[in-house]
Amino acid sequence: MLDQATIIAREALLSKATMVAAAILALCDFASAQDAGRGRAIAQQRCAMCHNIDGGPRGRGRSAPAFSEIARQQSFNANQLAVTLAYNHIPMGNGRVTAGEAGDVAAYIVSLRRR
Ligand code: HEC
Repeated sequence: MLDQATIIAREALLSKATMVAAAILALCDFASAQDAGRGRAIAQQRCAMCHNIDGGPRGRGRSAPAFSEIARQQSFNANQLAVTLAYNHIPMGNGRVTAGEAGDVAAYIVSLRRR
């Protein structure tokens, strides 16, 4: 038989463990949430040499579509961008961008739609 003190101590420990688990889950959620600001920074470093990333039209002499054009594609979304960048983006080299980074860049591209 467990005495009352042991039961209370166990319950306290359990609720602490629950709080820690909830905090970890919240952190994970934060880390995986798509962030347009971070996406813009990634795009400046890694896409802007070929794409116009500022929401304007394609620049002269650039073969890459402007991000504003990509944003207008009805089918555009984060998954599609991740797949394109992983497997089907030969000019840059495939697989250079993680799915998480692609999610952030996609959030930035989608944000250009509202302009
Ligand atoms: C070295 C130049 C270069 C870099 C760097 C580059 N791209 Fe591209 N990208 C291109 C060219 C050229 C095309 C058009 C030809 C093609 O689709 O393969 C293109 C096409 C695309 C398309 C359209 C694909 C489609 O099927 O409609 C997307 C989306 C895209 N790029 C996203 C990105 C993102 C996001 C980055 C940065 C992480 C990036 N690109 C970096 C040159 C580049």
